[in-house]
Amino acid sequence: MDQAPLPPVTLDELDQLSARAATVIARLRDRLYAPGTEKRLDLRFNVRRAAEMVGRSDKLIRDAEADGRLPEPDKDPETGRRTGYSLADVNHMREVFGTLPHRAPGDPAMVLAVQNFKGGVGKSTMVCHLAQYLALKGYRVCIVDCDSQASTTSMFGLNPDVDVNEDEDTLYPFFRHGGPPSLHYALRATYWPNIALIPANLGLYDAEYEFAARMAREQTFVLDRLRTGIESIQDQFDVILMDPPPALGMLSLSVLRAANAIVIPAPPNNIDFGSTAHFLKMMGATLSELAQMGGARDYAFVKILATKMNDGKSAHVAIKRMMDAVFPMDMMTAVLKDSAEIDNTTANLGTVYEVTGPAARTETHKRCRAYLDAVGREIEILIRKTWPSHHAGLRKEGLL
Ligand SMILES: Nc1ncnc2c1ncn2[C@@H]1O[C@H](COP(=O)(O)OP(=O)(O)OP(=O)(O)O)[C@@H](O)[C@H]1O
Ligand SMILES: [Mg+2]
Repeated sequence: MDQAPLPPVTLDELDQLSARAATVIARLRDRLYAPGTEKRLDLRFNVRRAAEMVGRSDKLIRDAEADGRLPEPDKDPETGRRTGYSLADVNHMREVFGTLPHRAPGDPAMVLAVQNFKGGVGKSTMVCHLAQYLALKGYRVCIVDCDSQASTTSMFGLNPDVDVNEDEDTLYPFFRHGGPPSLHYALRATYWPNIALIPANLGLYDAEYEFAARMAREQTFVLDRLRTGIESIQDQFDVILMDPPPALGMLSLSVLRAANAIVIPAPPNNIDFGSTAHFLKMMGATLSELAQMGGARDYAFVKILATKMNDGKSAHVAIKRMMDAVFPMDMMTAVLKDSAEIDNTTANLGTVYEVTGPAARTETHKRCRAYLDAVGREIEILIRKTWPSHHAGLRKEGLL
């Protein structure tokens, strides 16, 4: 059958398309954040939950409030009822009771890459939720958004085109010739206590060209630049999470060089699994090439996490079983199941951990949170195993 060929798309039309897409995003933002207001964290915890988080009884908390070691709890000025504690309040309690889980100065900071060269496997989703899981536990977390698509930057309430200056705020200036000596300039606090962010925007993509041009003469400098940058800020953090772009470019290679552990999200379907197998092969080859250029790099752990898994699909179950058989030591036990809750919250530029009110009491929400907590907990234990000061605690908990 004869089909008229589609007319070519002109550059003008592409520009119009991109402008329209930007308008849609702007409307979404306007709906989510009233003009002039910034994204906030509305989580409040009652005394029972706070006690659980702090690792002390509610009686001890009440006593400390009564004798002035802790401030009086917030009350509603009209009803006089307690309004619960914020995460910052809970962290203050942890400080007072000595239950903050920070690493000791002698323990290495965990620099974790959530990496897979395949797009859309759940890297950014995992980075945001893992950061928040760890922040809820009281760890000091930094997220480095290494992806010019800037999904993670958006999830943390920033508009990459408006709130982030490409010449000043992202990794880019650090990667440029004669860039600053440390990454401090790019660190910014977020509305999550304990989560700092180095944001990204489209301008970061230019780093690919910049690096490629300098590779010939300054190979090791280029490859290890991100690692140098992370070393310049790591003192302040327990865990640094890197969210790389979905491509094998210079930025992704820099992430592999900077990481001291890797989690590979991989949906158990044919196509994604095929590309993950390919990723693993490429990673092996790339790492040994990188080792020849700039010295070998060891990882504390490299784990594969099944993401977007649907138990109702026999193909998913079969491939997951195959993954478990092929990589018995390397698969995480926890699985991040496919969940409408994740899709819905990310579509609204939020996370599952940020949901409050009646929406947080639905069964779908609780189930999804249980998957996320299980993944977070497994990674938390892997991280703590790399900190000698945590070993005694892990042994006591029967985890080592
Ligand atoms: N477990 C899940 N259940 C349902 N939807 C999910 C899940 N994980 C991720 N998603 C959705 O899949 C899409 C892609 O996820 P995400 O952006 O995290 O992937 P990515 O690997 O970072 O993508 P990219 O390679 O483009 O950076 C998002 O719309 C996200 O909401
Ligand atoms: Mg992403």
